[in-house]
Order: sequence, then C-alpha cells, then structure tokens
Amino acid sequence: MKFFLVLVLLVSALYGAKVVEVSQEYQKSQKCKACHLEIVKDWEGSWHAKSHYDKDEYFSKSIEYVARKSRKSSNSVKVQCATCHNPRIAVTDTGIDYEIQVLMELDKNSKVNKAIESSAINEGINCVVCHNIDKIHHDRDDTFRGMDRVSWTKSGLMVGPLEHSTSPYHETEHRDFMDEKSDELCFVCHANDRSIKGLVFTNMQDEYKKQDKACVDCHMGTKTVGVASTLRTQDGHTKKREVREHSFFGAHTENLWINALELDVWQEKDEILIALKNPQPHNIPSGFGSRELIIDIEYMKPGNIVNTKSISLTRHYTRRKGKPTIPHLAQEMSEDISIPANGKKVLKVKKEADTTSVEVKVYYRLVNDEVHSILKLKEAIWSKKFFINSKSLKLKQ
Ligand code: HEC
Ligand code: HEC
Ligand code: HEC
Ligand code: HEC
Ligand code: HEC
Repeated sequence: MKFFLVLVLLVSALYGAKVVEVSQEYQKSQKCKACHLEIVKDWEGSWHAKSHYDKDEYFSKSIEYVARKSRKSSNSVKVQCATCHNPRIAVTDTGIDYEIQVLMELDKNSKVNKAIESSAINEGINCVVCHNIDKIHHDRDDTFRGMDRVSWTKSGLMVGPLEHSTSPYHETEHRDFMDEKSDELCFVCHANDRSIKGLVFTNMQDEYKKQDKACVDCHMGTKTVGVASTLRTQDGHTKKREVREHSFFGAHTENLWINALELDVWQEKDEILIALKNPQPHNIPSGFGSRELIIDIEYMKPGNIVNTKSISLTRHYTRRKGKPTIPHLAQEMSEDISIPANGKKVLKVKKEADTTSVEVKVYYRLVNDEVHSILKLKEAIWSKKFFINSKSLKLKQ
C-alpha cells in the first residue's frame, strides 16, 4: 500500500498538471474583442464556448449522474471532467479531505469551490486554452489528456500560426501545433476519452486516417485572405493575413450533416442492401459515446407507404450486472457500430411482399434513447434527427 502511494505521488509529481494563473487582462474573450472581434464572435457560437456545466445540459446532467452513481461530490466530478472541458481551472484534483468537507458542509469557502465557481472557467475552451499552450507532451502516456498533456505559457504570451506578428497588447510566438501540425492540438483532448473504469469509449486519434486535410480544414473552414487583427499599424493599414473561422462547427450543427455519409441502395434477389460510405477521415459517429445513426426505411406501393422500419446504429454501455449506463460509468460496451474512417458498412433488410419501391433515409442523433432517458434530458436538440442522406429504389419483382 505504501509503495503504491509513493508511486502514485511520484507519477502525479512527474505528470500532474501545473496551474499557471492567467491574469485578468487575458482571462476572458471580452478582452480580445477590441482587435479580434470576428474571431471572438465565431468562437462564441461554437460548442467549445459551451463546455461548462452551466451551458451544456448533456454535460451537466452527465456530471450529476456520475457523481450520484460513484458516490462522489459533484464538484469532484467537475474537477475531473475539467481536465479537457475546462483546463484552465485553478485546482487539478480533489481528495478524500474535500469529500469530508462536503459531507460536513464545510466546503463553501474551499479552494475547490472557488475554482469551480470562478468566472475564469465559465467560457469553457476559450482563447487562453488553445493559445496559451507552450508545449504538447507526446512523451507522456496516452491516458494523459487535456491539461495533463500540456504545459502553459506565462500569462500574456499568445502562441499562434502567424510569422512575424507583433501586438501591443500581448507577446506572440509561433508554434507548429498551431500551423502545419494543428491536428496535434486537437488530439490533446479529442482522443482517449475514457470511463471512470478505464474503458476507452472514443479514440479519434486511433481511428484517424489522415489524407490531405487537417481537422481545421473542415472544422475551421479553408484559409481565406482577411486580417488576424483589426488593429491599424502606424501607417493606417491593417495587415492582410490568411485566416480561418473560429467556428469549430461539428455534430450539433444540423446543416453540416447533409451528405456527411454517402448512401447507396440496391436489390439482390429478395434482399435490399444499404451501403453507408464515410468519406471523412474519422469514424461516424465518433467523438462521444451514445451518438446514433438512424436508418428509416419506407416500403411503398404506388402512392402510399405500406410499412416502415427503423434501424438504430449506436453503442450501448453497461455497468455491473449488465445494467445500462452512460459512457462515463461504463465497464463494458457493445460492439463498434460506427462507419469507419474512409470506409463503409453494408446493411441488409428483406424485401416485403407486393411492395414496388423503398425509400431509405439516414439521420444522426446526438444522444440515443437509452442515455436520453437515463439522464432525463429536456432540451429539444438532444432528440432532434439531423438529416444526412436519402435514396429511393424501384424494386424488381
Ligand atoms: C480549440 C482551439 C482554439 C481556440 C479555443 C481558439 N483558437 Fe485561435 N486559433 C486556433 C488555431 C488552430 C489557429 C490556426 C488557424 C489557421 O490555420 O489559420 C488559430 C488562429 C488564431 C489567430 C490567427 C489568425 C488565424 O485565423 O489564423 C488569432 C488572432 C486567434 N486564433 C485568436 C483567437 C481568439 C481571440 C480566441 C478566443 C475568442 C481563439 N483564438 C480561440 C485554435 C484556437
Ligand atoms: C490592442 C489590440 C489587441 C488586443 C486587445 C489583443 N490582441 Fe491579439 N493580436 C494583436 C495584433 C496586432 C496581432 C498580430 C496580427 C498580425 O500580425 O497580423 C495579434 C495576434 C494574436 C495572435 C496570433 C499570434 C501569432 O503569432 O500567430 C493570437 C493567438 C492573439 N493575438 C490572441 C489574442 C487574445 C487571446 C487576446 C485577448 C486576451 C488578444 N489577442 C487581444 C492585437 C491585439
Ligand atoms: C482543451 C481541450 C480541447 C482542444 C484542445 C480541442 N477541443 Fe474540440 N472540443 C473539446 C470539448 C470538451 C468539446 C465538447 C464541448 C461540449 O459539447 O460541451 C469539443 C467539441 C468540438 C467539436 C464539436 C462541436 C459540435 O458542435 O459538435 C469539434 C468539431 C471540435 N471540438 C473540433 C476541434 C478542433 C478542430 C480542435 C483543434 C484545432 C479542437 N477541437 C481542440 C475539447 C477540445
Ligand atoms: C474532410 C473533412 C473532415 C476532417 C479532416 C475532420 N472532420 Fe470531423 N467531421 C467532418 C464531418 C463532415 C462531420 C459530420 C458533420 C459535422 O459534425 O460537421 C464531422 C464530425 C466530427 C465530430 C462529431 C462526430 C460525431 O459523430 O458526433 C467531431 C468531434 C469531429 N468531427 C472532430 C474532428 C477532429 C478532432 C478532426 C481531426 C482529428 C476532424 N474532425 C477531422 C469532417 C471532417
Ligand atoms: C480526454 C478529455 C475529456 C475528458 C477528461 C472528458 N471529456 Fe467530455 N468530451 C471531450 C471531447 C473532446 C468532447 C467532444 C466530442 C464530440 O463533440 O463528439 C466531449 C464531449 C462530451 C459530452 C457531449 C456534449 C454534447 O454537447 O454533446 C458529454 C456529455 C461529456 N463530454 C461529458 C463528460 C464528463 C461527464 C466528463 C467527466 C466525468 C468528461 N466529459 C470528461 C473530452 C473529454
């Protein structure tokens, strides 16, 4: 036991995240608006900006559920999740002492509560998360993500992709993970997401089949000529730069799903085959557990629908004794149903007697029914079906 403790202490001393305080003038995106208005506005619309227990219902209800089921205080779970969701938090772990304080209701003025309630983290993944990363530690074990995988610059030094940039408000430095190696920045958090039992339920880095495009090419748009800063230089001009949008559009944006998968439908004897092809370099669904693809099939006779069938492609997560649960508490999960990166999956259904055609429609949902009901999610976005693709086929008799 003693040996184990020493080892744990040693490991956390070696790898434990170091907090570097961000001073007031850089902490919030508001302070960047005077010179980076467009970027701030783009980012405000992103889900990176919602990565906080007050701003994302699915996230906050997951925290409460994990706390309840693992008999921890919800603040301890918040600190745990902050590793990737709020990595500029001022505390990096809580201990048994804190749990006792909570039980005795003595936690109110504790360092932990102050850190969690601090407005410094309520912007989620903001400017000083990505642009204050000094170094990404590839030497560390794969399980170290988010704040445990990086070291921070001193407050006021912004790293970025630009060559020869200067700013009167902050220092600047170039980093290759902001530029030609930007995938590495995304994989700080978008990889190796695991349950409290150590089950890896998503690993985008593992499944990634890179071709010509980087994450930023699709999720921040292509580079266009614009300005990185609207601040005018002494001769009254702004500096032209190649820039991207800070929109980080993704799974929550309905119109991006259109054609995200290719669909092919054909008949072989009395079977209908449905091929889903994924041209993206990562699996779909991916990113987070319990996402879902829905394939609706309508069997038709001229003029009317005779029958319908719905196929759900999703993953199910279980705890002790096979009880359904959410990804973060899972001991086991069902097989991978996702359409592999640059790959395809073919499903088969029976042709129904006397039908003359079928219409196949493919949708995406952020949360499957199982997790939706476990967490009692209320907002409409979690049950909405985002349209991906459709095809109809005349049937041979
Ligand atoms: C999730 C990480 C992330 C967050 C959060 C983020 N950025 Fe960036 N930022 C990047 C990346 C990656 C680039 C490089 C884009 C490229 O290839 O041009 C970049 C580029 C920039 C640039 C250079 C112009 C450009 O488009 O290349 C500025 C200025 C900038 N960011 C400011 C900000 C500000 C201000 C915020 C907060 C509102 C912010 N960033 C939030 C990742 C981030
Ligand atoms: C007074 C104006 C001003 C303010 C306020 C300001 N910046 Fe800048 N920033 C600049 C200028 C000017 C540049 C250089 C632009 C160029 O060279 O094209 C710059 C560049 C950057 C870059 C790119 C650095 C590089 O080398 O690639 C980042 C990232 C950045 N700023 C982040 C921020 C963040 C985050 C804030 C808010 C905390 C902020 N800035 C506030 C003026 C400002
Ligand atoms: C510090 C950790 C961190 C880094 C670095 C990071 N992300 Fe994220 N990202 C997250 C988290 C956490 C979420 C989920 C936020 C939520 O839904 O509340 C997310 C969400 C997303 C989404 C989904 C948005 C949606 O609407 O569904 C996309 C796309 C994305 N990130 C792209 C990127 C790209 C591209 C990069 C690299 C330039 C990057 N991220 C870097 C943590 C990170
Ligand atoms: C060739 C374009 C392309 C590239 C490159 C790409 N993505 Fe995606 N990604 C998509 C499309 C299309 C979707 C589905 C629609 C949407 O969410 O925008 C998607 C979905 C996602 C999702 C939500 C997945 C889900 O099923 O819920 C995340 C998270 C994400 N991407 C992150 C990343 C990260 C991180 C990288 C780099 C490692 C990356 N993407 C590279 C096109 C791309
Ligand atoms: C390894 C980094 C990492 C850690 C630690 C982490 N997350 Fe996440 N989480 C992410 C990323 C990246 C995404 C975005 C994936 C996507 O959009 O598909 C995400 C997305 C989510 C989502 C989906 C949000 C939405 O709007 O759809 C939930 C819920 C969530 N996380 C819960 C948690 C909880 C609860 C914890 C702590 C017990 C936690 N996460 C810890 C990286 C992490």
